[in-house]
Amino acid sequence: MCGIVGVTGTDNSLSILIEGLKRLEYRGYDSAGVYVNAQDGHDYLVKRPGRISNLEAALTDDVHGSAGIGHTRWATHGEPNEANAHPQYSQDNRFYLVHNGVIENYAQLKKEYLADVHFASQTDTEVVVQLVDKFVVEDQMSTEAALLKVLRLISDDSSYAFVLMDREQPDTLYVAKNKSPLLVGLADGYNLVGSDAMSMIKQTNQFMEIDDHELVIVKPDHVTIKDFSGNEKHRDTFTVDMDENAADKGAYPYYMLKEIDEQPAVMRKLVQEYFGDSDQPQINADLLKAMADADHLYIIGAGTSYHAGLVGARIFERLCGVPTTVHISSEFAYEQPLLSQKPFFIFLSQSGETADSRQVLVNVNQNNWPSLTITNVDKSTLSREATFTELLYAGPEIAVASTKAYTAQIAVEAILAKALGEYLGKPAAKDFDVKHQLGLVANGMQSITDSKKTLEEVAARYLSKPRNAFYIGRGLDWTVSLEAALKLKEISYVQAEGFASGELKHGTIALIEDRTPVIGIITQDRTAGLTRSNLDETKARGASTITIVSRHLAQEDDTIVLPDVDETLTPLLSVVPAQLLAYYTSLGKGLDVDKPRNLAKSVTVQ
Ligand code: F6R
Repeated sequence: MCGIVGVTGTDNSLSILIEGLKRLEYRGYDSAGVYVNAQDGHDYLVKRPGRISNLEAALTDDVHGSAGIGHTRWATHGEPNEANAHPQYSQDNRFYLVHNGVIENYAQLKKEYLADVHFASQTDTEVVVQLVDKFVVEDQMSTEAALLKVLRLISDDSSYAFVLMDREQPDTLYVAKNKSPLLVGLADGYNLVGSDAMSMIKQTNQFMEIDDHELVIVKPDHVTIKDFSGNEKHRDTFTVDMDENAADKGAYPYYMLKEIDEQPAVMRKLVQEYFGDSDQPQINADLLKAMADADHLYIIGAGTSYHAGLVGARIFERLCGVPTTVHISSEFAYEQPLLSQKPFFIFLSQSGETADSRQVLVNVNQNNWPSLTITNVDKSTLSREATFTELLYAGPEIAVASTKAYTAQIAVEAILAKALGEYLGKPAAKDFDVKHQLGLVANGMQSITDSKKTLEEVAARYLSKPRNAFYIGRGLDWTVSLEAALKLKEISYVQAEGFASGELKHGTIALIEDRTPVIGIITQDRTAGLTRSNLDETKARGASTITIVSRHLAQEDDTIVLPDVDETLTPLLSVVPAQLLAYYTSLGKGLDVDKPRNLAKSVTVQ
């Protein structure tokens, strides 16, 4: 949800901003803009609707400012046109602001303080920059004091990451955050600010966290952090070990395809990270104890992460015998169910920044309940605020549609369930050789990704025309059908539904028409025959049926046959053809696979 960058202290500022924005484009791509300071008394502000490439095309090469800010937007207030793009600026063109988040009380602030001000946009952000200007110009406050006053006026349910520039202090970045992510980067002779570490990794691997309700003043050679009472705070730096090229597409046409292909390597990496030379998972003893003390596990996530939780819950119950329920974070945050006596919370989040999930974590922390975040981004907000963190080791996931993070989440849940089940002395966990199985999964994934041609043909034949499609299955296969349908919806705009196959006859089968694609996932011994019957029922009503089936259950005319692995882990394989079917359907329609309409990767508004 919007990416922001800032830099001060280098002649190269414009190209650093553009490079950073490109790496943040996954956060939103409705519009983009940059402001570079007035070295020669001439400000430089360029904003364009659409992608960063549009902004880049509009830049001229006469810009040599030493500091600037940039923004890539996922629109919340106001349509994605040039006026609503950031940076937003004050009416006297003195202050420039980029913002990620939502100012919930902006209308009230506008009415109360800015009734006589002319607004150039419909954004909540412009209210903030106009207010700073008003307090500086009319009330003769310093920029720092004015910003502080505005920050205090912003309601606490608002979210923001701000970088403000004052053209009268051209080398200073004023920075603050609440709920939205933001980091300071410390480079050689200059400093940066960005929504994530990846946006700055070409310049530095040294970072400083910013906490909510702090005001940070970034100059070329110095960073000052203060609380809202003006007290200075010390902050240690930390190093991020990240391969800057890990976020490049290489020879791939789209990140999504690269990330699907990376899944076997991610499985192997997880085995290496969690097992090393041992046959037992190496999990923090305090974490295992906290989980073992609980009487119920609550898994919280959104979208694909929620779907990975649906799989994980079944694995935890099978291997550990602990009741486990999964909840959509945006629902749980405001309709908390009755909880058990000793709950333990597991947050699943690729980005570690999802606002809906964070809202649940805030409630969990207020109650002092123990929690674990399973995330791909170390030191992300959810990782910092939970009691424990386990990492996905999947490398940067850039395509908006999540693929390798989903399979990595399931694998980490399985590893954790194995460790907890062993800790609790459960025979089902002892008998489950997850290390060996993940090796089989990696090989199985490899063979599926090697059969892209077949999947491309299936996508072209069955999915390129219809408006609707169904994925069906039972048990674990049903949970995968939800994720498979989400992939198809979000990148190919086919209205797809994942359905418990036994439920079809209770209503939804009315939607089946001539040639409606119905894709059955069949990997579970106990229910394979039932799902096949349900598929036949749709075929009898005109559906075009496709099957994704484990080898030992396969029949002669099945469409896609999966290598056999332990039944508990089949979601790791059955989802891969579904990812590729979505990819090729989107590609065949000429859509932008990596950046589907209306979406952003990291959803930092509620
Ligand atoms: C879909 C997708 C989203 C995310 C969801 C949660 O492909 O990527 O549904 O899974 O927005 O994001 P994280 O996992 O970052 O909390």
